[in-house]
Amino acid sequence: MEKIASLCKRRGFVFQSSEIYGGLGSCWDYGPLGVELKRNITEAWWRDMITSREDMVGLDSAILMHPRVWEASGHLAGFTDPLVDCRQCKQRFRADQLTAEKCPECGGELTEARNFNLMFKTFMGPVEDTASVVYLRPETAQGIFVNFQNVLNASRLKIPFGIGQIGKSFRNEITPGNFLFRTREFEQMEIEFFVKPNEAESWHRYWKQTRFEWYLEYGIAPSRLRLREHGADELAHYAKGCADVEYEFPFGWSELEGIANRGDFDLKQHAEASGKDLSFFDEEHRERFVPYVIEPSAGVGRPLLAFLVDAYDEEIVQDEPRVVLRLDPRLAPVKAAVFPLMRKDGQPEKALMIRDLLKQHFAVAYDQAGAIGRRYRRQDEIGTPFGITVDHETMQNDTVTLRERDSMQQVRMPVDRLVDELRARITAGCAGVAAGAP
Ligand code: GAP
Repeated sequence: MEKIASLCKRRGFVFQSSEIYGGLGSCWDYGPLGVELKRNITEAWWRDMITSREDMVGLDSAILMHPRVWEASGHLAGFTDPLVDCRQCKQRFRADQLTAEKCPECGGELTEARNFNLMFKTFMGPVEDTASVVYLRPETAQGIFVNFQNVLNASRLKIPFGIGQIGKSFRNEITPGNFLFRTREFEQMEIEFFVKPNEAESWHRYWKQTRFEWYLEYGIAPSRLRLREHGADELAHYAKGCADVEYEFPFGWSELEGIANRGDFDLKQHAEASGKDLSFFDEEHRERFVPYVIEPSAGVGRPLLAFLVDAYDEEIVQDEPRVVLRLDPRLAPVKAAVFPLMRKDGQPEKALMIRDLLKQHFAVAYDQAGAIGRRYRRQDEIGTPFGITVDHETMQNDTVTLRERDSMQQVRMPVDRLVDELRARITAGCAGVAAGAP
């Protein structure tokens, strides 16, 4: 993890928030490469889960919601962690994570556990009184539930269908940590999939499988991914059943995504609290019911960290150490880098022309500084799947060498084939050099 965190900072994936002021605990900023990687992850999710499907639509609801939402959802009363203080060193811990009755830091005496609500509070409008309290949402899900009727009325969807959204959520975690894994501000990619109650079990199975396979599709090693069913004592207040997709991080197996069967809890709660009808009328069978909800709920930071950890590799190539991020080309922040072999004979100008041509289609980099081997290594370290080198032959016949990151194989290729070739290799999701390439 230390190597990943240091690579993230050095190469501009992730910086600590407000670093010049000493940093703000558990808050992180995505740098130039991190923001590209994050966008590629969220865009892949949006494309695979929403736009490519007939039974899904998207939503982008506000972070601030009516305070009664959180009353009805159960968050005001129940979204708490049990907290204990050490009387001696004053540190705070989650009571449910302690293994002994003495402070794990100093051995001091602990207070009784009390419930601590994880929602951030703030005030809306100019008066800071109890009437103006609003909360930063702790999950994007509730924005979907309260828009259930709006989406139904505005679309021609019939059950089963789902609504997905990507957005920021906030939790005042007592013990944040492990870099991007547990933070107080984070992004979620959530689906609420509405089904007939008697079909909930089979849709739950379907989504567990679909979401598990999504991580494999983007390159996570099967040996480091598992689906773990929750025990009855772990279930959230709304859940009838839940399974987590877990990744084996360097700090142990931990949750990337939860896939829950929320039953009709949320729609019923909001219907009762708001007095609005949140049921669905099935025209075909002439029956009205409150749908059950299957919820695949992922973070963005956790999958991003898992993709980085999984892709990180160190090897020795010709007696030189090489660090390589074997990211899926679709997720890689930079798709190709263009290099002039020499800084003379018109090679830099030609390489810049190729860079400009490719830039219209992909995120590309240009690098002319230092020995070519070192330039390849710099790109390997940030996961750039392809390197394109302009040499003396380019100036004669308009061909370049195309080097592939993982195999380091090189093939010669006409410049006018580059865009199609790169597009094919990137969308295939596999960085291997295509068979039959010249
Ligand atoms: N709507 C259901 C829900 O929010 P959750 O299991 O509490 O369920 C879903 O959160 C996902 O959101 C988690 O699997 C995780 O990826 C991400 N997540 C939750 N809390 C987080 C935190 N403090 N930091 C980073 N990601 C978090």
